[in-house]
Amino acid sequence: MSKKYSVAIVGATGAVGQEMMSTLERRKFPYGEVRLLASARSAGKKLLFAGRELVVEELKENSFEGIDIALFSAGGSISKKFAPCAVKSGAVVVDNTSAFRMENDVPLVVPEVNPHDICKHKGIIANPNCSTIQMVHILKPLHDAGKIKRVVVSTYQAVSGAGMKAIIELEEETKALLEKKEYNRKVFPHQIAFNMLPRIPQSGGIEDGKYTNEEVKMMKETKKIMGDHSIKVTATCVRVPVLRGHSESVNIELEREITVDDARKLLAATPNVVVMDDIDNEVYPMPNMCVGRFETFVGRIRKDDTVPHGLNLWIVSDNLLKGAALNSVQIAEELIAKS
Ligand code: A2P
Repeated sequence: MSKKYSVAIVGATGAVGQEMMSTLERRKFPYGEVRLLASARSAGKKLLFAGRELVVEELKENSFEGIDIALFSAGGSISKKFAPCAVKSGAVVVDNTSAFRMENDVPLVVPEVNPHDICKHKGIIANPNCSTIQMVHILKPLHDAGKIKRVVVSTYQAVSGAGMKAIIELEEETKALLEKKEYNRKVFPHQIAFNMLPRIPQSGGIEDGKYTNEEVKMMKETKKIMGDHSIKVTATCVRVPVLRGHSESVNIELEREITVDDARKLLAATPNVVVMDDIDNEVYPMPNMCVGRFETFVGRIRKDDTVPHGLNLWIVSDNLLKGAALNSVQIAEELIAKS
């Protein structure tokens, strides 16, 4: 009989935790026990997993006894405090927060891009920032073929990236505005319904007075995942009133020419990428059609004549799946395959 792995989900009641549960099931992950962990507020709550009711337990330092793989998605401070406990208990942690991403001995992995880095782990493997994952998934084959020199990215990020409370805030605020009622915001600093915020407040502070943490994550993480610190990346990250699915406008400058046709062919041959690029027939990726899908979608591939060897791309993916839960589960699958 093939080995089964005990899996803990830290933050199981959250937007990403819920998707981690469904992704384990959808991908037929070889799980044995599945332990659902969250705050004391959720202890005793029952969640449906694979047709059975599982009881949520309060996260504690001794929650990881007998656990092989711990998937963390309950915020950076929780990871900082409890991931070392999980490692001490003998589990490998796949951490979906930014707590350890830039640490030297923590691999930062997108399985389609740098699966080999997984072997370097010392107990913790980091899942990159959601917007970075879908971007590098598309950039990697283009970088291999033509060496990317510079990336200019603007994101259009769904509210679910800020968790369950943000989903509720967009829904309730939209309803209140349509009904001309007052609404007291709890999550976003400004109105998000029928608006856009040119900053992702939930990802932390502002670095060097100009760039937000989310932007800096995209700039730094891209280099680490691609294993090439010469790539220049500049980012503007924007929160938009979309529930689920991040979109990105990405401009790249390559060292060697890649024609639009060749880019399409390279991307169509990349695992888990779908090319949707037929502007005459209104075919391009959009966030509403990527919800629940495991792939990264790319379209609007155009030559940028304003620079030597430039391309423009439009990239969309489900931020809760490829951007979070799916990528974490894929890392766990690779870990098992390599063990
Ligand atoms: P809980 O539902 O008990 O608050 P989201 O990103 O959707 O907001 O979800 C955050 C997740 O992190 C939830 O599962 C939440 O559990 C969990 N969480 C928040 N604070 C803690 C904590 N102190 N200990 C354990 N889990 C926590």
